[in-house]
Amino acid sequence: MNTMQKAQAKTFALGRSGTIFFCLVVASAYVGVKVVAANSVAPPSQDQGQLKFGVCAPCHGGDGRSGALPEYPKIAGQNRKYIVNALQAYKNGRRTGTYAALMAETAKNLSDADIENLAVYISGLDDSK
Ligand code: HEC
Repeated sequence: MNTMQKAQAKTFALGRSGTIFFCLVVASAYVGVKVVAANSVAPPSQDQGQLKFGVCAPCHGGDGRSGALPEYPKIAGQNRKYIVNALQAYKNGRRTGTYAALMAETAKNLSDADIENLAVYISGLDDSK
């Protein structure tokens, strides 16, 4: 092997290990993405929803059914999916009307996870009284 061939062999070896290293980086990045994705679909938390409900209580009542004004709807015990849709609609400006602006102000600060957590909490509130 002359010097030139040795250099080429070395470059080849480096190239191969470089490729393997690159594959490892891609593979670990992929695993990382999978882990993050798994976290983002964590089941909604009633406890987190209860904490966040502090923002809603001044208008909807601490129990979700004694609103500060008659214009404020009772929401305790409402279907989870309905609550999610309603909050998303206020957030995205798809629900409009005289009082919708009040809700939009609050909803625009809620993340998707906040909305899921709130919906689980509110749908579990007692609406029988
Ligand atoms: C400033 C007062 C106010 C605050 C704060 C507030 N809301 Fe509301 N909310 C309203 C009003 C008023 C409406 C009725 C709006 C309309 O007519 O569309 C409403 C409507 C809703 C509805 C739809 C009810 C239905 O029957 O369609 C849901 C669900 C809701 N609010 C949940 C929440 C949650 C969850 C929070 C806290 C993150 C919250 N609201 C904070 C005043 C408020």
